[in-house]
Amino acid sequence: MDLQAQFESAHREHQEILEFLDRWEEALRLLESENCDVCHAGLARLRHMAEPIGNICEHCRREEEDPESPLFRFAQEADRGRMKDEHFRLYRANSEFRRELDLTKPAYTGDLVLSGLKLLTTLRGHIVYEEGLLHRFAANQFENELAASHA
Ligand SMILES: [Fe+2]
Ligand SMILES: [Fe+2]
Repeated sequence: MDLQAQFESAHREHQEILEFLDRWEEALRLLESENCDVCHAGLARLRHMAEPIGNICEHCRREEEDPESPLFRFAQEADRGRMKDEHFRLYRANSEFRRELDLTKPAYTGDLVLSGLKLLTTLRGHIVYEEGLLHRFAANQFENELAASHA
């Protein structure tokens, strides 16, 4: 895969994750309903969606070690340190959420909603941060190519 395609692939993966998170938030919001049937439906949907959330954690692991990932290739030490810290926070928020999901009954969903919203906010914020990195790395690459073509 050439560099341009690697950047496009990284943006596309983030876009797909954000679209999934919108659907995931819709399911989470069903748990706030006073109607027990709606809560049941929300819980079933969230349980169905638990695996894709795990796949997002897999996406993050690749960013730390896949040579084809622009985030791996171009991150400076400080960027890499922050990215790893944020990934660790995500894994922790995900495991808290999974634990709540296993224990929650439709009549007691408050803690599940709180841990779900925390995971959601953490994930969205993390993607904003990584998109910023990707734009910065792409601009740097463009400048380097320009400088090389004028040398
Ligand atoms: Fe990412
Ligand atoms: Fe990440």
